[in-house]
Amino acid sequence: MAKRPVRLRVPPGLEDLAAAELVELGCDVEVVPGGVLAPRADLPKVLVGSRIGSGVTLQLGHVRLDSLPDALRGMPWQSVLTGGQRVEVVLRGVRGRGIEGKCEAVIARHAAKRGGGARLPALRVWLIAEDHRAEVAVEAARDLWKRGWRTAPGRAPLRENLAAAVLRACNWTGSEPLVDPMCGSGTFGIEAALIALGRAPGAHTRFAASFWPGDERGAIEREQKKPAKGGTAPSIRMSDRDTRQLGAARANASRARVDRHVRIEEAAFDTVEPPDRPGLVVLNPPYGDRLAGTEKTYRHVAAVLEQRWEGWRYGVLLPDGRLGRFMPGEVDTEIRFTHGGKRVWLARGRIS
Ligand SMILES: C[S@@+](CC[C@H](N)C(=O)[O-])C[C@H]1O[C@@H](n2cnc3c(N)ncnc32)[C@H](O)[C@@H]1O
Repeated sequence: MAKRPVRLRVPPGLEDLAAAELVELGCDVEVVPGGVLAPRADLPKVLVGSRIGSGVTLQLGHVRLDSLPDALRGMPWQSVLTGGQRVEVVLRGVRGRGIEGKCEAVIARHAAKRGGGARLPALRVWLIAEDHRAEVAVEAARDLWKRGWRTAPGRAPLRENLAAAVLRACNWTGSEPLVDPMCGSGTFGIEAALIALGRAPGAHTRFAASFWPGDERGAIEREQKKPAKGGTAPSIRMSDRDTRQLGAARANASRARVDRHVRIEEAAFDTVEPPDRPGLVVLNPPYGDRLAGTEKTYRHVAAVLEQRWEGWRYGVLLPDGRLGRFMPGEVDTEIRFTHGGKRVWLARGRIS
């Protein structure tokens, strides 16, 4: 097995941020395009602790394409597959008549002796062609950004893992005030409160790997039972001019059990009073598909920041890196990633 068979999938552009987070958790990582690799022993920490990742797979090995499906027999299925559990093979670049079904049948025959798998979700296995070989990997977790608190999605919500990435990219560690004056469903503020309180993002999640019959199940549970690091949330304020969005933000904050730690109020962005102690102001303004309208919005955002938010750092999401030139102070738009199929730039700077 490879030295680092665990792959945390990460939105392209955010690999270094995701890797830095795993290093802080004590993992031994390697950055690859679209992901971060870690040893199998680090799997529980990756699953429970990554805020930025979007999914996790465990590589079991490689097989020759021309020896499928028989070559799958030699893989350690007993550590990941329970007797009677359904197998779902997903192919990437691997061709052959009825090959998925044949692979599924071979894998199912090599499940752990322990039965009861019929009640479990299917084990998803990826076969990804690389020249004449295929990588064989099992899914350990998917949709990692779903923390479980989002009951009310709002109109254009940011995924939780992207909000976490933006906060990390802006060096927000939970010790200074944070304001989101266009909060929508409250993703930035809620994620910030969870960071400040040291609550692990996957503390209550049932991952695909939580059902594996081997030792990992226990190790994941132990990781999940570790107490939250604690800490007190600084001033976290959210506002929006849309009452319905505020309803969503309040419902979400309550479900995430951070409602005592955040302040949510109705206000137009240009009337929000910054708290006395400067910190970070984050903005995910709405953007249309026409650049001209979008340019007007961002010029307005920049003007208000410049006039009212002196001494604050800012992080503003842009639908086009060229809009960065309107942002105040020395701005950097180095970080970009994909969100909902669209490219997004993060403009970071300080208002002096
Ligand atoms: C793209 S959404 C933000 C989504 C949010 N990050 C989330 O995860 O749900 C933009 C939000 O900005 C709000 N907004 C737009 N212009 C505003 C203004 N001038 N003042 C306050 N809120 C505004 C909209 O009501 C909308 O909720």
